[in-house]
Amino acid sequence: MDAGRTHRQPNPFDLDDDAAYRAWRERRLERAPRTLDDLCVEVRDLEHPTTAEHGALLDRVRRTNMVLYHCSLTENRGAVLRFAEHFGLMRLDRNPGADDDGLSAIRVLAQRRPGEFIPYTDRAIRWHTDGYYNPPERRVRAFLLHCVRPATQGGTNRLLDPELLYIRLRDADPAHIAALMHPEAMTVPAHVEKGVELRPAQAGPVFAVLDDGFGPRLHLRYTARTRSIAWRNDTRTRAAVTRLEALLDTPLDGTFEHRLAPGEGILCNNVLHSRGAFSDTSGSERLLYRARFHERIANT
Ligand SMILES: [Fe+2]
Repeated sequence: MDAGRTHRQPNPFDLDDDAAYRAWRERRLERAPRTLDDLCVEVRDLEHPTTAEHGALLDRVRRTNMVLYHCSLTENRGAVLRFAEHFGLMRLDRNPGADDDGLSAIRVLAQRRPGEFIPYTDRAIRWHTDGYYNPPERRVRAFLLHCVRPATQGGTNRLLDPELLYIRLRDADPAHIAALMHPEAMTVPAHVEKGVELRPAQAGPVFAVLDDGFGPRLHLRYTARTRSIAWRNDTRTRAAVTRLEALLDTPLDGTFEHRLAPGEGILCNNVLHSRGAFSDTSGSERLLYRARFHERIANT
């Protein structure tokens, strides 16, 4: 034992530890699923995944922070939540749009609800991670999106592992990462309606490194919305944001594009995602269940 010497754990997200970053980067890119088929796992009974199914699901999440599952079940809210519990996901984020069980039914609402509007319309949603307006104690680390009924047309999701975005940005210039890790990099102004503050202003970093005792993990807090977002007003932040936006505007290697079919869902460590606009036929409206969690998927 080396008395008097402390060993630093290698941290790939430490900008001063290039060796750790290189080793992690190589492994990460090598293991990435390349096709939707590789990302998808069939689950026979969503409520009771078998050991083999559970292992296959976890394997995808370990490789790219997300998995696409397919099961025959469509409209069963309890089963969706119990499926999440198999992955240690218990602490639901009860956002204003959520129902009593913690699930949100994502569908077009004739009447708007306070808080968060765009998900409940048929409009496109730009790249974002969930809960970017939440305070750190309500950070969304994982979410599940389960499709009951797709739209008649459109509603395709794009998905991107934040680690791939991190790699592209750090390779371009590590100063971009430093700027986006600043605690005041991105501010979401307060949400005020009819003079009532529904949510206070929330400043925070875009990239954060969090450690729950299992080693450093990357967390991304981002929205491509241009309205109602205040970026830190300095040259480095502006350069980093410009680069980040340019990367997301071109189809980045590792981006998955998929229109969820009935019984399909996405389980992920809050990866970047977007949604295309859609249109419904009356009597067969698009319906997705969404659950957001404050913990990461266990063992990933
Ligand atoms: Fe979302």
